[in-house]
Amino acid sequence: MKKKKKIVVLSGAGISAESGLSTFRDNNGLWENYNVYEVATPEAWHNNPQMVLDFYKKRYEQVVYAQPNAAHYALANLEKDFDIQIITQNIDDLHERAGSSNVLHLHGKITKARSSVNPNIIIDVEKENYIKIGDKCPLGSQLRPHVVWFGEAVPEMTNAAKIASDADIFLVVGTSLNVYPAAGLLDFAPDSAQIILIDPNEIASPVNRSYIHIKEKATTGVAKFIEMLKN
Ligand code: APR
Repeated sequence: MKKKKKIVVLSGAGISAESGLSTFRDNNGLWENYNVYEVATPEAWHNNPQMVLDFYKKRYEQVVYAQPNAAHYALANLEKDFDIQIITQNIDDLHERAGSSNVLHLHGKITKARSSVNPNIIIDVEKENYIKIGDKCPLGSQLRPHVVWFGEAVPEMTNAAKIASDADIFLVVGTSLNVYPAAGLLDFAPDSAQIILIDPNEIASPVNRSYIHIKEKATTGVAKFIEMLKN
């Protein structure tokens, strides 16, 4: 039985843009409308947990009403013919809802809450009832979003690097490669791996490897990528 080619995908906010979810660093992106230090850092959580919960509640509600787009579905369909592993920086669940079964979230999930004293206590956010001040974990601590804030460790990075090191094809979709350690995953792909970037804009960050840039939105870019796989 011929071994299936291993495709590793690193996705970012851009793959969910056509599902209506804001990116961070595009025009009118989230970081143009919010001060990241007031909503996405441990200090923000300590100083004003209500503001942090308001920020994530808004994003949670957008995710609940968003639908996966053709790019999410096309990547899920590749599971039939390839050994495909998604590593996403996104906290939405659109890859899973499109049918992808191997999805690793580097920056956590908006659909999960966790104890603010024991990071191993992770529970589902109640459907359409986002975390509120006073919602406690079994140990009695305030529940927090199960997301990685700036300045916090990225526990899944070790797993992600191991996955990246096995890639035959490393596909980067919809990320500005601005945030580390996630952006550094590319360096773990073996020299033999083919690197393909899908992004409608120029990639500003340095990518010190040879790569193919499909300068398209995710939906048309992933379709082009699949055409390339067939030939
Ligand atoms: N299709 C594909 N790519 C797109 C689309 C689209 N329709 N629209 C925008 N993009 C591209 C942009 O050109 C940009 O390169 O998606 C990328 C989005 O970059 P960012 O907004 O920086 O988002 P991301 O790279 O995912 O941010 C990484 O930063 O704030 C933290 O934790 C947060 O996970 C996030 C991390």
